[in-house]
Amino acid sequence: MKKILICILLVNFCLLQAVAQHVPHWQKQGSATQLIVDNHPYLILGGELGNSSASSQQDIERIFPKLQRLGLNTVLVPAYWDLTEAQEGTFDFSLTDQAIHQARQNDLRIVFLWFGAWKNSMSCYAPLWFKQDYKEYPRVRTESGKPLEIASPFSENVFRADCKAFSAFMKHLAETDGERHTVIMIQVENEIGMLESARDHSEEANRLFNAPVPDTLLKYLSQNRKTLHPWLAKKWQEAGGKTEGTWQEVFGADMYTDEIFMAWHYASYVERMIQCGRAVYDLPMYVNAAMNSRGRTPGEYPSAGPLAHLIDIWHCAAPGIDLLAPDLYDKGFTDWTAQYKLHNNPLFIPEIRLEPNDGVRAFYVFGEHDGIGFSPFSIEDAPDTSDYPLSQSYRKLKELMPVITRYQGKGVMKGLLFNQADKERILEWDNTLLICRHFFTLPWDARATDGSVWPEGGGLVIRMAEDEYLIAGSGIVVEFKSKEEAALSSAQAKLGEDGFVLKGEGEQATSVRWKGEKRIGIGSVDQVSIAADGSMNFIRRLNGDQDHQGRHARIGVDDFQILHVKLYEYK
Ligand code: DGJ
Repeated sequence: MKKILICILLVNFCLLQAVAQHVPHWQKQGSATQLIVDNHPYLILGGELGNSSASSQQDIERIFPKLQRLGLNTVLVPAYWDLTEAQEGTFDFSLTDQAIHQARQNDLRIVFLWFGAWKNSMSCYAPLWFKQDYKEYPRVRTESGKPLEIASPFSENVFRADCKAFSAFMKHLAETDGERHTVIMIQVENEIGMLESARDHSEEANRLFNAPVPDTLLKYLSQNRKTLHPWLAKKWQEAGGKTEGTWQEVFGADMYTDEIFMAWHYASYVERMIQCGRAVYDLPMYVNAAMNSRGRTPGEYPSAGPLAHLIDIWHCAAPGIDLLAPDLYDKGFTDWTAQYKLHNNPLFIPEIRLEPNDGVRAFYVFGEHDGIGFSPFSIEDAPDTSDYPLSQSYRKLKELMPVITRYQGKGVMKGLLFNQADKERILEWDNTLLICRHFFTLPWDARATDGSVWPEGGGLVIRMAEDEYLIAGSGIVVEFKSKEEAALSSAQAKLGEDGFVLKGEGEQATSVRWKGEKRIGIGSVDQVSIAADGSMNFIRRLNGDQDHQGRHARIGVDDFQILHVKLYEYK
């Protein structure tokens, strides 16, 4: 009898382990963090629904087939607290179920966005019973004492109500999707941040603001001194680098200290939410941030959100958060992405303005930053045509997924992104230079010079072996040179668009003698497709006019392609 019992326990344990292994989770590969879905590294080729587009069964049914046609593999879907718990303690998950059902019908995965206590700073998604009972569920206050429609992160009642609903939601997911994993990740709240003031000025907030900085944070600062975000390290040092004291004593008396204080409390709240969700279903969880852009100060932008300069505060208070994700609506795309791809933060773009350049930007995120995913906002508004750049891009990225994920984190993959002002980037591996440019630096397309605004060009380059590259994307051209040869640039004859030598610009015009330096030639450029196992299939050879008689590999601006390039050397 005892033996049978042990066997049953063992079988149960193994089953639990097997289920647990299949739940989406994280895995390190070199310097990259990969999201593992059904045992394979996964790239989110996503789109986020507009705020109100998942609030009716009919809309979900109408929109999801379009998302599949657009080429998405994942949709980011709001989960609304107000509609889930319209009556306190009674839960209705019919919208959640409909989204999961439609996702399965249309071969999509879901990232649910918990619109709970906070959505874009505000508490507009809290149910009416919560909003009305402001004594039970208090609001934050500005310095003048004015209450805002922002629930207080200092209130235990607010947390308990939010957490109870979130926990019921996660339990429902575990019960209905724990085996299939249509739902792969959860965003906790949405764009948390304090507006109008850099911090809450309620009585409770003021009391905590004048109390000592928690030991956990002080220890974290000392122990991680060398890797702190430079902004925080500087602020702490400029205030004297103290290891005890109130918030103002440790960080100085200004609005950025108010922001740090508030970030600590928002993050502490989120950590407790994550723990209560994970206790019932352990899915990857992240938070998203509205950017601190356009010269705004804390409170003008949503103060204390999960912003890059506050990453240490958020990490320390909320170690359960898997990543801090930027929502990108402002100029400076490559700068923002670089700010959020950190040694301690994998890059995921849950929201970006929907526009034609998103196609090449997605390539850049995966190629340059080992990104987890990319997701334009209000995706249901994208044109429903197969040649929309994002659809073309996602079709190619879907093919490339086994290849990209094989090379992530190994230092052999780079992203390219060019516009009219920023046209060139030189990559280097094994003493070979790859001179990469916008396609419109070539003279053959009228739009290059007729005053048109250039569409962005971009893609990714993978060094597969010393003489072998994979180049994919749209609107790019790549030339190859040995470093030695590049150093002798004045020894090169200047060529016209036809490849002939320009008048008077032949070798006679140069003074440097060739001393046997190595040159790199193009062996072949093949357009290829990628099979599900990551192997390459030949589509066609691109030679002659298509590689400028062996001078470059290129992909036009209206097309997305995958090229396999073989090089050779000669002297
Ligand atoms: C960012 C928010 O996270 C989204 O929910 C949405 O409000 C967009 N801004 C803009 O409409």
